[in-house]
Amino acid sequence: MFCCVHRQDNKREGFAYQWILRKSGSLWVVFFCDGKFYRPAPYGCCHLINLSREAMAFTVKTIKSLGVLCSGGDSPGMNAAVRSVVRTAIGLGIDVFGIYKGYSGLLEGNIQKLGLSSVSNIIQRGGTILDTSRCLEFHTAEIRQEAAHILFRKHIDGLIVIGGNGSFAGAMELHREHAIPVVGIPGTIDNDISGTDYTIGFNTAVQTAVDAVDKIRDTASAHARTFLVEVMGHSSSCIALQVGVCTGAEHVVLSNQAVDYQKIANDIKKGAERGKTSSIIIVAEGEKAGLSYQIKEVLMNQYDISVHACVLGHIQRGGSPTALDRLIASKMGYAAVHALYEGQQAHVTAIIKGELEMVPLAECLEGKDEASEPELDLISALAI
Ligand code: F6P
Repeated sequence: MFCCVHRQDNKREGFAYQWILRKSGSLWVVFFCDGKFYRPAPYGCCHLINLSREAMAFTVKTIKSLGVLCSGGDSPGMNAAVRSVVRTAIGLGIDVFGIYKGYSGLLEGNIQKLGLSSVSNIIQRGGTILDTSRCLEFHTAEIRQEAAHILFRKHIDGLIVIGGNGSFAGAMELHREHAIPVVGIPGTIDNDISGTDYTIGFNTAVQTAVDAVDKIRDTASAHARTFLVEVMGHSSSCIALQVGVCTGAEHVVLSNQAVDYQKIANDIKKGAERGKTSSIIIVAEGEKAGLSYQIKEVLMNQYDISVHACVLGHIQRGGSPTALDRLIASKMGYAAVHALYEGQQAHVTAIIKGELEMVPLAECLEGKDEASEPELDLISALAI
């Protein structure tokens, strides 16, 4: 069994980092490069050694400090997660560094030590006190190397990334290329990360959209109008489906299916014939916002149906998190710190069938769309 004696920036050309390990009383120097470990050999050579990253769990009890960042689109509950990370880590004697503005901030060295009171009074706040960004540069290996150097220079032993699957991909590469222990906390309103049934912020976004659609329903009924209401979710229809059920929508347009204009027209006409004073069609935005305007044009020009379009947009990302999002965020922050403390190297705090589990990060890098026929059937059965 190896245990880590020392880890430092490496001076040896071509290698990223150097560790001094202890095995059965003797000291080993190992180098890490491109996902592999090497031992120095005579004449300047190096031998590849079979030291798996899992064996590097020797960092177990050596995590003395960790960094936490939010990345990608913010989501309500991120602050509750940051608070939980900070308080749990300090309780375990681990220093916590807030990395501001996601991976961009990491590259700029925008890093500050966080104390217990730096996260006071934030559990109920939307957005993120750490700020966030979408950092396209992080797709480049050289840029990630710079980021790893910054973490090493700041003596940050592990990283917690709160964000979506794009943010997790960056964390995965940091781990693979530089052996930095990382834990992901799923935070996006879209609920579209593989490997977990839930992402922080989804419940709040659905509630915000439901509140907005209820208001639209009032005015739609007063004027006997039909509204297309477009909700966020990118290529996932999770928000659209739940909002559709909870607002009694007449129809939901999913992002992964071609728009069935004839069916929409039929649903609207059927409702009018049986005396409905309004119709609400929920539209999942898909890859690019604005689909509802396109549908409106076709319904007006080809089916002679007058409709209004309303894109809810970023109001769905803001606002105070619901109790559910605060609860899950608090649990995930706590679990993420314990995972690093106990030596997990690349995992995600996931919710599976209602339980919190640690899932390998590699299983959480894909998007997913769980839009399902049963939910659509429910919507049309209730909109009869
Ligand atoms: O964070 C997820 C999300 O809100 C998607 O639902 C949406 O498509 C996208 O982000 C919008 O991103 P931006 O705020 O960068 O326009």
